[in-house]
Amino acid sequence: MSNPAESYESYMVPTLFAPWASHLVQSANPQPGERVLDLACGTGIVARYVAPWLGAKGAVTGLDLNPHMLAVARAAAERQGLAVEWREGRAEQLPFPDGSFDLVLCQFALMFFADRPTALAEIHRVLKNGGRLWLNVWQGLDRHAFYQTLHNVIQQRLGMSALQDIFALGEADRLRTLLAGAGFERVEIEPVSLTARFPDPAGFLAGEIDLDTAAIPSMQGLDDQARQAIIAAISEDMKAPLREVTQDDHVVIQFHAYVAHAG
Ligand SMILES: C[S@@+](CC[C@H](N)C(=O)[O-])C[C@H]1O[C@@H](n2cnc3c(N)ncnc32)[C@H](O)[C@@H]1O
Repeated sequence: MSNPAESYESYMVPTLFAPWASHLVQSANPQPGERVLDLACGTGIVARYVAPWLGAKGAVTGLDLNPHMLAVARAAAERQGLAVEWREGRAEQLPFPDGSFDLVLCQFALMFFADRPTALAEIHRVLKNGGRLWLNVWQGLDRHAFYQTLHNVIQQRLGMSALQDIFALGEADRLRTLLAGAGFERVEIEPVSLTARFPDPAGFLAGEIDLDTAAIPSMQGLDDQARQAIIAAISEDMKAPLREVTQDDHVVIQFHAYVAHAG
């Protein structure tokens, strides 16, 4: 069976997360000598992009709660000859003293935090005076037609879908209120769109269905045969919508995010 963290790194990072990481790091404009935290780093693409900006006196730490993601992150950074400190931990209880970082980067993760106000207050605490936070979140499902359709199909078949959580922070005002509530005074939010191209449309759809149904309780209670039957039914329902976003044997989807920075 494939390791989900390795599939994430080999399929989702080059197609989707690396271009956004490049955009986020360039926007944050890290300076040589700065101390940077990549919060909820996953397989560490943001940490790996930011490391070369910091020079010998700077330092980057990647933190995530998933040890499997961290193992892939560590191996990838070693292969690239990058010095990154990797830490297992939770955003809601950061294992760092007050004022540890000049810059916190957090890519497509705030929506997953169980306690967002506490996590943002923790980010504020570990930033130095004058330090800055740069993060991105997806805009809502209403801006992502393919995922809205997938969400509707999964919901019809299973009663709920995880896509709601992935696109949960799609309102700029809500994001602004969350950041202000955590003590950030200067908050700027801008919409950004990037187009992703995914090879292997059938594999793309299978991966999305797996990701968006795996944690659903009604799915977990099923035996393998029943689970496969539901996945086949969802795939069938998604045939036409998948065709609509397929060009030259690639799935081509425009993604819309809010990039927020605060200090
Ligand atoms: C969509 S991935 C993004 C990973 C990475 N930032 C990237 O751009 O590839 C979301 C990550 O958030 C992590 N995560 C979710 N909740 C967390 C929490 N409370 N504390 C730390 N990490 C968390 C997950 O383990 C996962 O690796």
